[in-house]
Amino acid sequence: MDTAISLENVKKTLGNREVLKRITFTVATGDIFGYLGPNGAGKTTTIRILLGLLKANSGSLAIMGQDIDQGETRRKIGFALDPDGLYDNMSAEENLAFYARIYRLSNAGQKIAELLKAVGLSDRTKDRVGTYSKGMRQRLALARAMVHDPEVLVLDEPTAGVDPSGQIEVRQIMLELAHKENKTVFLSSHNLDEVQRICNRIALIDRGEIKLYGETDSLRRGMSSGTVVIETATEAPKMILDELKSIPKLGLRENQERRLIFSPQEGTEVSDIISWLTEHQVKIEGAARKEATLEEMYSTILKEVEQI
Ligand SMILES: Nc1ncnc2c1ncn2[C@@H]1O[C@H](COP(=O)(O)OP(=O)(O)O)[C@@H](O)[C@H]1O
Ligand SMILES: [Mg+2]
Repeated sequence: MDTAISLENVKKTLGNREVLKRITFTVATGDIFGYLGPNGAGKTTTIRILLGLLKANSGSLAIMGQDIDQGETRRKIGFALDPDGLYDNMSAEENLAFYARIYRLSNAGQKIAELLKAVGLSDRTKDRVGTYSKGMRQRLALARAMVHDPEVLVLDEPTAGVDPSGQIEVRQIMLELAHKENKTVFLSSHNLDEVQRICNRIALIDRGEIKLYGETDSLRRGMSSGTVVIETATEAPKMILDELKSIPKLGLRENQERRLIFSPQEGTEVSDIISWLTEHQVKIEGAARKEATLEEMYSTILKEVEQI
């Protein structure tokens, strides 16, 4: 696995607040990596440090194995932050040309036209950016981040403040660009649904700490193995329920009218639960392991934090 971004024990204090406590994670080349967390969690601070706009108090970080200030590393990153830094008085085309000059690109005209087409702004290239909707601005910011053909895209909440249909467009474009142009994407978001849908890996940050980190799919699987839902033909008698409750490995958690919810101990299979119920004359109509959503994970984790 090639590493695109790595942070190790990064700490940052702003004022007298420990905004980042000990941030450690790795983004592999080709990842669409979701940096998920509620407002104020520390996402933007992490991104600013990653881009070398802010210095960490301690810890280390590397982009493609190198320091951000080393050699050509900076050129390997494209970014879009909030505020978007676009010039309202310039057209889309002029905005991109301006950036192309900053990166000392010659003959950027064709690249700019291609990018504007890729983000669906071909018919608005000459319009002043001040007349754009938020979604259009974000798409343009995405194009701008790619003017110098970077290997890694760092995007801070690229869909925040964009209306729902605009969000779909921004996400689609992000995915297309990432796949077609083979980019690594690091994006922050407070939108669980978004991250769950488009990111193959995630890190969940809350109050300056990473609470969850890994492949989206395996995190989901890890959670889902926890819950088994059994539908019964009739309501199970109280006596049976009491007996059931006294068997810890089956882990009855909740009984609703015709539904029993279990969090079985490790090593207990769905079939163990079914056998037990059948032996006790409980007729079963359905049994399923429940898929947890990232939402459930998220709220579970945030609740745990509140209890401490
Ligand atoms: N310059 C600053 N001085 C003091 N605290 C700050 C400063 N900038 C940000 N913070 C605090 O750091 C925390 C993390 O902020 P930020 O990284 O912007 O979070 P996020 O992007 O996840 O919403 C917040 O509690 C914020 O109030
Ligand atoms: Mg932020």
